[in-house]
Amino acid sequence: MKKHLFVLTAVLSITALTVSAEKANLVVNADQPGAQISKHIYGHFAEHLGNCIYGGIWVGPESPIPNTDGYRNDIIAALKHIQIPNLRWPGGCFADEYHWKDGIGPKESRPKMINTHWGGVVEDNSFGTHEFLNYCELVGTEPYVCGNVGSGTVEEMSKWVEYITFDGESPMANLRRENGRDKPWKVKFWGVGNENWGCGGNMTPEYYANLYRNYATYCRNYGDNRLLKIAGGANSADYNWTEVMMKNVGAGQMWGLSLHHYTVPKGWGPGGKGSATDFTEDEYFTTMEKSLFMDELIGNHVAIMDRYDPRKRVAFCVDEWGAWYDVEPGTNPGFLYQQNTLRDALLCASTMNIFHKYCDRVRMANIAQMVNVLQAIILTKEDKMVLTPTYHIYDMYKVHHDATYISVEMLSPMYRLANRSLPALNVSASKDAQGVIHVSIVNIDPKNDIDASCLLKGVNAKNVSGIILSSDNLTDKNTFEDAEKITLKEFKKAKINKGELSLTVPAKSVITLTIQ
Ligand code: AHR
Repeated sequence: MKKHLFVLTAVLSITALTVSAEKANLVVNADQPGAQISKHIYGHFAEHLGNCIYGGIWVGPESPIPNTDGYRNDIIAALKHIQIPNLRWPGGCFADEYHWKDGIGPKESRPKMINTHWGGVVEDNSFGTHEFLNYCELVGTEPYVCGNVGSGTVEEMSKWVEYITFDGESPMANLRRENGRDKPWKVKFWGVGNENWGCGGNMTPEYYANLYRNYATYCRNYGDNRLLKIAGGANSADYNWTEVMMKNVGAGQMWGLSLHHYTVPKGWGPGGKGSATDFTEDEYFTTMEKSLFMDELIGNHVAIMDRYDPRKRVAFCVDEWGAWYDVEPGTNPGFLYQQNTLRDALLCASTMNIFHKYCDRVRMANIAQMVNVLQAIILTKEDKMVLTPTYHIYDMYKVHHDATYISVEMLSPMYRLANRSLPALNVSASKDAQGVIHVSIVNIDPKNDIDASCLLKGVNAKNVSGIILSSDNLTDKNTFEDAEKITLKEFKKAKINKGELSLTVPAKSVITLTIQ
C-alpha cells in the first residue's frame, strides 16, 4: 500500500479526508474567506540580454519581420493573449550598469556601451526608455522599471523618475517633450537596484539598506503617479538579508522586498547546470525537488517579514525565478538561450501553486525571462516564433488573476524514485469575480495516473469543464519545426456527482478545472 503525505494548504480538517490506497483526496474550502491572488505574480522580465529585447520583442521599424513601430507583431499578440500584468526592465545585472540618458534622443546619437555581463556584445541603446514604456502601453501591461544603484547616482535615478512621470515644466519633463513624448507615462513599480549582494554592487545588507533609503527618498511621486518602490532582496536562502532589510528599512519605506531564486538541476558548479532537453528521470526528480523548495524558502522569508510587519504591508516580490540550464549547444554562453520542455511546464505550474498559497504576502513575481532567455515563455528564430510549454501554463492560469484564494487540503500519493519521494500532486484553487471556481492540479509523477476525489465545501456545483497540458515524454518540447507539439487541450474526464468531484489526473500533467 502506498503511503500518503499530508500536504497542507490550510489548517487541516482531518475528518473531511479519507485515506485510500492509490487515490488522492482533496477538500476545497470554498466556504472560507481567502486573500486575493494578485495578478502581478504572473509578471515577466525582459533584460538587455542575448535576444530577449533585440530580435525578441524588438526588431526595429525597418525589419522585414512584421512589426508595429519596431515591435514584433507575433510577440505582441502572444503577450496580449495571456494578459501579462507587468514587465520588469532593463535588468537584471544590466540594470546596475545602465545609464538611462544613453537610451533617449535620436538613435544615431545614442552612445554605445559594452554589455559586460551578457556576452560582451555592443549595446547600441536603440531600445531605451521611450521604446520600453511605449511597448508597455501597446501590450497593455504595467511597467516595472529597475533603477541603477550599483554604478548610478541618486541624482540619476531621481531624474529618471522626473523624466518619465512629471507633467509640469521641469528640465527633465522638457527633455522628454523634446524627445517626442508630451504627456508623462504612468509607472507604478520601481525597483531600487538589482541583486545588490552580487552583480548590483557586492554590498552587505546593512550598506544596501542605507543606500536604499537614500535613493528611494528622491524617487518622487509626481502628480497622481504613485511609485510602489521595491527594494533589492535576498539571494535565495540568505535570510539575514531579509532580516536586515525589514529591520533597517521596514514597511514605511518600501512597498515590496524582492527575492531571487533559480532552479539549477546540477547546481552552479563548473560541471554544468544540466541540459534543458536531455535529462534522466533522476535529474527530473532533482529539478522538481529543487523547484518545490520554493515553498519552504518563501515560508522562511515570510516568517521573518511577519515578525517586523505582521500586517503584511510589505509585498514579497519574487522578481526573478525559473529554471536555469546549460545554454543550447552552439549558442553564445552569455546569451542564456535554453529550450523548454514539459518539465518546465510542471515546474512553472507547481511554482504558481506555491505563490498562490502565500498570496497574502507574495504580491508580485517575474519569471526569468520573457523571450529567448532562461525559462522563456516565447522563443524566436528570425521571423518564426514558438510558444513554449511554460507559455501555456501562463495561459491556463490566467483564470487565477486577481481571484480569491481558496485553501485546499489534500492527501496525495507519493512520486517515488529509488529511495526518494515527493508528493505526486500539488494543487491550488480560487474563485473569480463571477463566483466561478478554478482548481489547478499538477501531477509531477511521470508514470502514474492518479484518481482523485474532491469534496467541494460551500459550492453547489453542477458543471465542471477543464483544460490539460501534457505530452508523451517529459523531454517533449515545441520547436520551430513542430511548434504545436504541446498545447492546451480540452479535459473532459472530470465528473460531478452529488456535489463530489472526481477525476483521474494523468501522469506528468497540469489540469485546470472550471466549476460552476
Ligand atoms: O536573469 C539572469 C540574471 O540572473 C539577472 O541578470 C540577474 O539579476 C540574475 O543573477
